[in-house]
Amino acid sequence: LKNYSDDPTKTTRLSTSFNIRTEKVANWRDYLRLHCYPIDKFINEWPSNPTLFRAHVAEYCRSVRGLALQLIEAISESLGLDKDYISGQLGNHAQHMALNYYPPCPQPDLTYGLPGHTDLNLITILLQDEVPGLQVLRNGHWVAVDPVPNTFIINIGDQIQVMSNDKYKSVLHRAVVNCDKERISIPTFYCPSPDAIIRPAPELLTDDEPAVYKQFTYGEYYEKFWNRGLATESCLDMFMAT
Ligand code: OGA
Ligand code: NI
Repeated sequence: LKNYSDDPTKTTRLSTSFNIRTEKVANWRDYLRLHCYPIDKFINEWPSNPTLFRAHVAEYCRSVRGLALQLIEAISESLGLDKDYISGQLGNHAQHMALNYYPPCPQPDLTYGLPGHTDLNLITILLQDEVPGLQVLRNGHWVAVDPVPNTFIINIGDQIQVMSNDKYKSVLHRAVVNCDKERISIPTFYCPSPDAIIRPAPELLTDDEPAVYKQFTYGEYYEKFWNRGLATESCLDMFMAT
């Protein structure tokens, strides 16, 4: 109760569904959402019970950040850009994390854990337990991404799609619920800081392939994302060049 808030701008909060202020249909999910980079700025807001929560989550966040930075370098290089290009566009960088709890649902056909959406950030590193639930849209069909022990799922988010000028696609995904097993998933959202200016990489633009998106700050994008209540699957349409 101490941490509960329906205000998406809060940097540490417990909430339910997606954004209960704006949505018409609720989702079968509770979540704790934490900002976790720079750690020292946020750790004192995190729950202190159980006692080891802060220490363990901080250690996890530091390690996962290392992985995110490696992936971002590899993505830069794969686009033919300098390996530090994307990292250099992210202002002071940011990292958020959700601890999603999907309780068993008596009528799973009537709702979702999370309906179809793309993640607004750069890349998402998802740790999931052994209960299936994640699905991705591939060639017009929803495909289950069943858990493989000791692996992460890496999802491309909207900001990589923008910077790569559509060479990478932000993956449409959703979480379904089931009637007998609870499910826990822990996504890390690696992000630009709110002041970072995001735009398609100029080196990738040609006369034949002009910028698909206009320039915006990540803060502007973040606000649009949270206020639409997942009523549309993606916010990218709102930031097209023309
Ligand atoms: C998310 C998300 C998927 C899952 O939190 O953005 O897509 O499997 N989670 O819980
Ligand atoms: Ni997601």
